[in-house]
Amino acid sequence: MAKHRIAVIGGDGIGPEVIEAGCRVLEVLAETQKDLAFDFTRFDWGSDYYRRNGVMMPKDGLAQLEGFDAIYFGAVGDPNLPDDLTLWGLRLAICQGFDQFANVRPSKLLPGVVGPLRPELGQAIDWVIVRENSEGEYAGVGGRAHRGLPIEVGMDVAVFTRAGVERIARYACETARSRPRKKLTVVTKSNAQRHGMVLWDEVCREVIRDYSDLTVDWMLVDAMTQRMVAKPGTIDTVVATNLHADILTDLAAALSGSLGLGATANVDPSRKHPSMFEPIHGSAFDITGKGVANPLASFWTASMLLEHLGEAKAAQRLMAAIETVTARREVVPPDLGGKATTVQVTDAVIAAVRGANA
Ligand code: IPM
Ligand code: MG
Repeated sequence: MAKHRIAVIGGDGIGPEVIEAGCRVLEVLAETQKDLAFDFTRFDWGSDYYRRNGVMMPKDGLAQLEGFDAIYFGAVGDPNLPDDLTLWGLRLAICQGFDQFANVRPSKLLPGVVGPLRPELGQAIDWVIVRENSEGEYAGVGGRAHRGLPIEVGMDVAVFTRAGVERIARYACETARSRPRKKLTVVTKSNAQRHGMVLWDEVCREVIRDYSDLTVDWMLVDAMTQRMVAKPGTIDTVVATNLHADILTDLAAALSGSLGLGATANVDPSRKHPSMFEPIHGSAFDITGKGVANPLASFWTASMLLEHLGEAKAAQRLMAAIETVTARREVVPPDLGGKATTVQVTDAVIAAVRGANA
């Protein structure tokens, strides 16, 4: 039986806590499913590695990751190091180096979870936000001039390329097509940003012509925030730029109960490079080491990883186990209003995996 080779990078803060919990759950899935096996390789990269070595990952880091089937990633960010250093040194270096241009972020209100919206609105949330993940506002293009002088300037240039927009639009259309409602919302801000965002609109419009089975609408990003709150049931698949989707997905996570539930996949759809799967909550150093981090996002993330590896059955088993635990409301982590520790939530999900298997 072929083992899936997974590179595990816990990273900073609560990253290692929730990712190790996820590895335990994956091991149990493998134990209880004959044709499933994993081979985990751990990498201790991140801010502590930086303090020892002066870099977030080794120079040949990408080459070391290249042969893996997937990367299971925790978080990056440290209270004592500049965020741009830690991010560009590890997470963005992997996303951009491996051309993981599609960032996929599902949200729904899991059973038993109480979100901030009225129940009938909250329960209508069933979204996939497809985030452009290689350029736009995160292109890293820009600079500083006149340092230290009164006329000092800092510039970040948002970069939109025809090829970059086309591939993410196509990926989003395929995602929308794979879902029952066949609905796509294109998020833009071309009323105010009249170059890059206008190209974004034009290229999206061209791509959409190939998908006449989809119902497509367009939203300005500001209006999109109020639609997500007021009319969540009218949204299904969303495509947005790197920064717009960054913001919208935090809102999506909050509306579906907690940032502790947000899962994400950084996908290289060409499969030339490994894709990377991570919870979106970040390193959360306020609760690091306390054993109370909610691991459910990292489990949902693991389910996306399984899906990507073609293990649909295991992916569904894991999602079902997560939903069994949230629905029962017996083991509830602090961010969802309970007192359960990371280990207790993990044990509950493991018991649900085993229980469904018994
Ligand atoms: C996310 C995070 C990152 C991002 C930060 C940590 C740079 O907010 O994954 O959404 O903005 O991409
Ligand atoms: Mg974010």
